[in-house]
Amino acid sequence: MNVDQDIKNIVILTGAGVSAESGIDTFRSAGGLWEQHKVEDVATPEAFARDPDLVLRFYDMRRERIQQVEPNAAHYALARLDVAWAGNLLLVTQNVDDLHERAGAKRLLHMHGTHLTAWCIACDERHPWRGTLTDRPACPACGIAGQLRPDIVWFGEMPYRMDEIYHALNHADLFVSIGTSGAVYPAAGLVREARQKGIRTLELNLEPSHGTSSFAESRHGPATQVVPAWVDGILGG
Ligand code: APR
Repeated sequence: MNVDQDIKNIVILTGAGVSAESGIDTFRSAGGLWEQHKVEDVATPEAFARDPDLVLRFYDMRRERIQQVEPNAAHYALARLDVAWAGNLLLVTQNVDDLHERAGAKRLLHMHGTHLTAWCIACDERHPWRGTLTDRPACPACGIAGQLRPDIVWFGEMPYRMDEIYHALNHADLFVSIGTSGAVYPAAGLVREARQKGIRTLELNLEPSHGTSSFAESRHGPATQVVPAWVDGILGG
C-alpha cells in the first residue's frame, strides 16, 4: 500500500537551501551571508535606523543578485507539483527571491517578504521594485522621497500571513520542509505544530538540520536531486 495515497492537503516550507544551487548564498552555511555580514548590522529595524545607507546598499546588492540567477530543478519540481496537485497545497517560503514564482508556482506565500517589492513607511503602500533604494527614490503612491524600505521581514519583526500558514497547517495531511536550517522562528516551529496535530512530516535537506529529530522522515541530498525525486514519487503515487 502506498501511504502517499492518503495525502490530500500539503504544506511545504522552503528556505535558502532550495535556491543555493541557483547561485544564491545561504545564510548559515560556511561562508554564508551571516558570516559575511553581521545580522545586527543589516537585518534589524535598529540597524536601519542607525545606518540606513549600509542597510539599503546591502539589500540593493541582494536585489541585483537575484535578478541574475535562474530557478533550478527543485523550484521547477515544486511548481510542477503545484500545477498537478488536486488537493490543497501551500508553498510557504522564507526566501525573498522570486525563483519559485519564476518557475511557475502559484499557491505561494512569502513569509519573510520579497526583494522585488519596496514598502513606503510614509504611506504604507508596497510597490514592485527592481532598482535601487540607496538613492532614496520617491514613493510612486505618495511622492515622498526617502521613505521606501526593503519589504523584508527583519529580525524582531513579525513574519507575514501567519494566520494563513496556520490555517493551511490545520488542514494539512503532510508538512514538508525543504532547504532550511530550522534556526529561525516561527518557521522553525511549524514542524512541531504539525507533529502535535498528527500530520506527517518530511525533511528534504542537504544535511540534517537543527530540527531534524522533529521530523518523522528525513531525506538528505542536494535540493535539485531530492526534491524532483520526492515530487515524482508523490505524483506517481
Ligand atoms: N540543497 C538542499 N539544502 C541545502 C543546499 C542544497 N543544495 N545547500 C544548503 N542547504 C541547506 C543547509 O544545509 C541548511 O540547513 O539549507 C539550509 C539553509 O539554512 P539557512 O542558511 O539557515 O537558511 P534558512 O533556513 O532559509 O534561514 C531562515 O534566516 O536569516 C534568516 O530571514 C533569513 O529566511 C532566512 C531565515
